[in-house]
Amino acid sequence: MQIRFADSRPAGDFALVLPSAGGNRPAVQGLGEARDSVEAALKRSRFEGESGSVVEHFLAGDGGRRLLVIGIDGSAADAAEKLGGNAVARLLTSGEGHAVIDVSGLNHDADAAARVAFGAALRSWRYDRYRTRLKDKQKPTLTSITVVGGGKGAEKRYEDRYAPVVAGVSLTRELVTEPANIIYPETFVDRVRESIEGSGLEMQVLDQAEMAKLGMGALLGVAQGSVREPKLLVLKWNGGKAGEVPIAFIGKGVTFDTGGISIKPALGMESMKWDMGGAGAVAGAMKALALRKAKANVVGVCGLVENMPDGNAQRPGDVVTTMSGQTVEVINTDAEGRLVLSDAMTWTQKNFKPKVMIDLATLTGAMVISLGHEYAGIFSNDDKLAADLIKAADESGDKLWRQPLAEAYDRMIDSPIADMKNVGPREAGSITAAQFLKRFVDDGVAWAHLDIAGMAWSDKASATYDKGATGYGVRLLDQFIADTAEG
Ligand code: BES
Ligand code: MN
Ligand code: ZN
Repeated sequence: MQIRFADSRPAGDFALVLPSAGGNRPAVQGLGEARDSVEAALKRSRFEGESGSVVEHFLAGDGGRRLLVIGIDGSAADAAEKLGGNAVARLLTSGEGHAVIDVSGLNHDADAAARVAFGAALRSWRYDRYRTRLKDKQKPTLTSITVVGGGKGAEKRYEDRYAPVVAGVSLTRELVTEPANIIYPETFVDRVRESIEGSGLEMQVLDQAEMAKLGMGALLGVAQGSVREPKLLVLKWNGGKAGEVPIAFIGKGVTFDTGGISIKPALGMESMKWDMGGAGAVAGAMKALALRKAKANVVGVCGLVENMPDGNAQRPGDVVTTMSGQTVEVINTDAEGRLVLSDAMTWTQKNFKPKVMIDLATLTGAMVISLGHEYAGIFSNDDKLAADLIKAADESGDKLWRQPLAEAYDRMIDSPIADMKNVGPREAGSITAAQFLKRFVDDGVAWAHLDIAGMAWSDKASATYDKGATGYGVRLLDQFIADTAEG
């Protein structure tokens, strides 16, 4: 999508998008002759300017120009973003090639105008690689957007702050969308390498032999049943003070989760191609930070494995030794994400000594039962870190709701044979998973675990994404860095 900003409407053919904040629609008022017919259309449609409501109208003059009036909820940046997204949702395959979104008179500052473009760009993402028989009418036609009336600085604001995030979110969505015969640990690494070329990110990859030498028995135990070799992908961004320890992001990257020997039922198993959504978010966030040259030191670590049943797969009851030295009784091979994360966390702490460590994982079905698809759960040993992340969540729209940790939950994963088992009872499944991870956090490290199981994928479209991969987490992590490390 080509994005432009202008002080007045350009010449030529385009669809015109005019916001209405409740009953306040200055650009409609300024329409001249067409104004009465547009107002009549709004009245007939019982349009009240509710956020996201759209009335489509074709002008009698102007070559029958298409006009959309879209309701927005006030003039906040968040409403601006939804305006851009809703406009694109409506116009992407409409036959229109150019949309002009006129926010004149709504007192949008440069940031709000840039957010219109941000929403538009996010909503325009689609992945048609495997659709070889799309009819012309089904193909996107909209290729450019002009935001009018945002004032000076909107373009710079967009390029500096939001275009990089669009690129990061797009990478995440692509990784999450690709099926598991295409994206497995090795190809995940390849795809990220191609995508970040020239960004200034440093990349390091550990292979199976190196991880074996380091004693990553938990991660390797999960990978054991797969013919795909596991990888640990490390992305480093050094945009901050030289020598300052990085903030660490860690992602669960299970490129397919069959459950292993504790195999999952067939119904819906295909959705486990997106069990690498945490790793996808980490890769996307690292790309966004690099592209906008964030003034922070950050490291992103992705634990990449495939969880398969096989003659060589790990069995329920197996005891594995993690890189931390702690032993784990693997009661259920489907509770694999925590096994992967535990070694990724230990490796990261050993190598970078971070003071702040945040992991993202599609970790438990129980999280989806608790919070549905509205909020991801956040578990943390540090109130300040939790508050900072929840603030970034509110600002970015990648929402978070805090969940508890407590000694009594920790007792539920004690094992009679090893230091811990990898599952507790059925109750509080998301919390016992978080307690498991907490056992791998070094003293003094502020840690947060984000269980994004309900968020990586959506069966419903929203203002900023279509059905499918949402890119959840990229905006959140990017905003967190902007507020804390750079703020
Ligand atoms: N990847 C799944 C969690 C998941 C399930 C994410 C559904 C999104 C939607 C995870 O590896 C898993 O299988 N967890 C088990 C844990 C159980 C065996 C303790 C679960 O949630 O059922
Ligand atoms: Mn699983
Ligand atoms: Zn999983």
